[in-house]
Amino acid sequence: MKAIKKAVIPVAGLGTRFLPATKAIPKEMLTIVDRPTIQYIVEEVVASGIEEIVFITSEGKSAIENHFDYDFRLDTVLKEKNKVSLGEELNNISNLIDIVSVRQKKPLGLGHAIWMARNVIGDEPFLVLLGDDLVMSGVPCCKQMIDLYHQVGESIVAIQRVPMDQTYQYGIVEGVETERERTFKVKRMVEKPAPGTSHSDMAIIGRYLLMPEVFDLLGKTTPGHGGEIQLTDALLALSNLRGMYAYEFDGQRYDAGDKLGYLKAIVDFALHHRDLGAPFREYLEMICQGCEIPGLEKE
Ligand code: UTP
Repeated sequence: MKAIKKAVIPVAGLGTRFLPATKAIPKEMLTIVDRPTIQYIVEEVVASGIEEIVFITSEGKSAIENHFDYDFRLDTVLKEKNKVSLGEELNNISNLIDIVSVRQKKPLGLGHAIWMARNVIGDEPFLVLLGDDLVMSGVPCCKQMIDLYHQVGESIVAIQRVPMDQTYQYGIVEGVETERERTFKVKRMVEKPAPGTSHSDMAIIGRYLLMPEVFDLLGKTTPGHGGEIQLTDALLALSNLRGMYAYEFDGQRYDAGDKLGYLKAIVDFALHHRDLGAPFREYLEMICQGCEIPGLEKE
């Protein structure tokens, strides 16, 4: 069985749900407490033992590449100011992993973005993490998926249960239980099923472990839902070709590309922050007791 060494992180989307914030700043660079969303995702990849990241980027996303680059000027200033640990945090991540960028020239869809990575990935299984999907968990979500891959040797999509009246917002999987905990054999997949037509509450989130055959299938995929080349269509073909598993990961997922999802992520990550967690909890408890919120006038 081939080892999983590479991860693709598509960040070429336009981020229209988050306008106007994302007009000049990539949504992946919006801050969750004290670091950009994309840093949490790269940290998950590093903690899962991956050796190389492929960013699929587009015009206006160079801040993401710069964020993980070595900044000689900043490093020198931080050293002069005796703030070495701040600079080291970022350098440590960049030193632990190779980062490659590939441009997606037109936003033709997530499927097309993944297809752009075919030459860098080659003939190896690989991970895909969406650049705006955060997962908070004890064992990193990707590590959970790699552990399962070592048992099943096939593609895996991470899933979470969603209310049936929200299935139209997701790629939905129909599958049958296996003898392994939280693991289902995929039978069908539909991208954003029309309201009321779904038979399953298993929604695909932004973590995939894929066999390299997906690239040929993506190359043959015609535009689907929304006129974009949909990853889900190629995944269905891959599941018919080789088999695929859906894995109900252990953790909490946040769609940080959506305004409400982003706010939830900030609150939860702040509550778990080493230094800010306790005072932030105190502040939230004060609000919940119906106290006046400083800075807000009572109606
Ligand atoms: P989204 O569905 O979140 O689309 O893409 P988006 O364009 O980024 O944002 P909205 O919906 O307009 O607000 C899911 C993932 O696929 C990537 C995005 O960067 C995101 O990580 N993507 C999407 C691409 O890389 N290229 C595309 O053409 C489309």
